[in-house]
Amino acid sequence: MQEIKIHLAREVPGDWWEVEELYDLTFAPGRTALSSYRLREDVAPLPDLCLTARDPSGVLAGVVRCWPTCVGDAPAVLLGPIAVHPTRQGEGIAAILMMNCIDAARSAGWSRVLLVGDHPYYKRFGFDPVADVIMPPPTNPDRVLGLSLVDGAWDGITGQVRRPKDCI
Ligand SMILES: CC(C)(COP(=O)(O)OP(=O)(O)OC[C@H]1O[C@@H](n2cnc3c(N)ncnc32)[C@H](O)[C@@H]1OP(=O)(O)O)[C@@H](O)C(=O)NCCC(=O)NCCS
Repeated sequence: MQEIKIHLAREVPGDWWEVEELYDLTFAPGRTALSSYRLREDVAPLPDLCLTARDPSGVLAGVVRCWPTCVGDAPAVLLGPIAVHPTRQGEGIAAILMMNCIDAARSAGWSRVLLVGDHPYYKRFGFDPVADVIMPPPTNPDRVLGLSLVDGAWDGITGQVRRPKDCI
């Protein structure tokens, strides 16, 4: 198996526009119209959970950002967007970003992680659909996935997903 040469780092302010460019390249136009973006408006990302993956010459290959959110009154990490440059997809870079991001969330004391995405991909990291966790519309409920970082972290957690400042 070929070794992936990638340097992981926390995103720094100088990375911001390069990361935005990679999101623009990998997501469909109008990505900021997605409902999950409403949960990021005027909310600072979690700096320990925003990671860049660069190749040895410094070219940005992949990124992930995370935001704090809450479900009902329960805090959760909102993971994503995650993106890998089209020329580097299929090498396991997203998996490296995901695993490091999840480890960082656990180390920071978070109990649960939420994302909107394809279960067939994210189940390999332990994500499963969470019932009655309601994202701002329009969101396909089958794509609302949760990961427990401590046993039972999603038990009984239901309700609207909101920005921390809008929580009960
Ligand atoms: C999704 C994405 C981040 C995966 O990055 P990556 O570095 O290629 O992922 P990995 O190398 O870790 O994993 C690749 C594997 O996941 C599979 N995969 C990728 N996207 C998938 C999806 N949406 N559903 C199911 N499987 C998927 C690939 O087929 C591949 O399978 P294989 O290991 O059997 O060959 C990347 O394709 C991307 O940036 N896509 C555009 C942006 C996007 O859709 N982001 C996710 C939003 S929820």
